[in-house]
Amino acid sequence: MCWGLDNRLNRIIKQDNRTVMLAVDHGYFLGPTTGLEVPKKTIEPLLPYADSLMLTRGILRTSVDSDTSVPIVLRVSGGNSILSKELSDEDITVSMEDAIRLNVSAVALSIYVGSKYEHRTIVNLSKLVDEGEKYGIPVLAVTAVGREMVRDAKYLGLCCRIAAEMGAHFVKTYYCEDFEKVVKNCPVPVVIAGGKKTPEKDALKLAFDAVSHGATGVDMGRNIFQSENPVAMIKAVRAIVHENAFVDDAYELFKGLEKEQNK
Ligand code: 5RP
Repeated sequence: MCWGLDNRLNRIIKQDNRTVMLAVDHGYFLGPTTGLEVPKKTIEPLLPYADSLMLTRGILRTSVDSDTSVPIVLRVSGGNSILSKELSDEDITVSMEDAIRLNVSAVALSIYVGSKYEHRTIVNLSKLVDEGEKYGIPVLAVTAVGREMVRDAKYLGLCCRIAAEMGAHFVKTYYCEDFEKVVKNCPVPVVIAGGKKTPEKDALKLAFDAVSHGATGVDMGRNIFQSENPVAMIKAVRAIVHENAFVDDAYELFKGLEKEQNK
């Protein structure tokens, strides 16, 4: 692997081979998502606890100070909206040159395996990997799940493996039963999305189950920034991912920090 690419990936995935990525890219097709109405307000307090920040270039430019040392994972696919009938209708939306100008540590693109535009999104991933390899920028493939897809190990394993075969340097997917099979069959690091907001303890259990079944970490959004106490939540997630905390201990930490904050 090229030294620069390796160095960038190592900035995201820490020495313990784990990572807590903070995903705030939802607006690229959802618009002003709950909790991200004023992105700067949401991002700023969480940034010190994020191993990387995943977002679009518009939010990076407007809502993140350029003196940050937190690695940026730039979403470079889009072109659809929540109103689209076909969510897989995505293309590459940012050039590699602009990603480099923005000094990103990785770029991210969604693939839609089994959906109408599967072919285009997978070929786009390969093209992005070619560009990334040229300049030493790692590529995160996001295995987006179409509305009608079942999130099981067979399907997600297929998506992750295809992403890795196309050359993605790391993959983001969903946790599922038999998750260890998904990880085993994917030769690059796998991180999980948090999905829709759930009670904090459930989200912590999701993070725990994922890392204890082989995930490199989380790329979590709504379960952090939509929490009543986002900073307490990201600290509790960190305890699981980086300190191998058990769910009950991480939840205690969350409750304790919450209490302190409300004093
Ligand atoms: C959408 C994404 C989002 O970043 C991700 O899914 C959001 O994370 P969460 O589900 O934890 O809110 O990549 O395709």
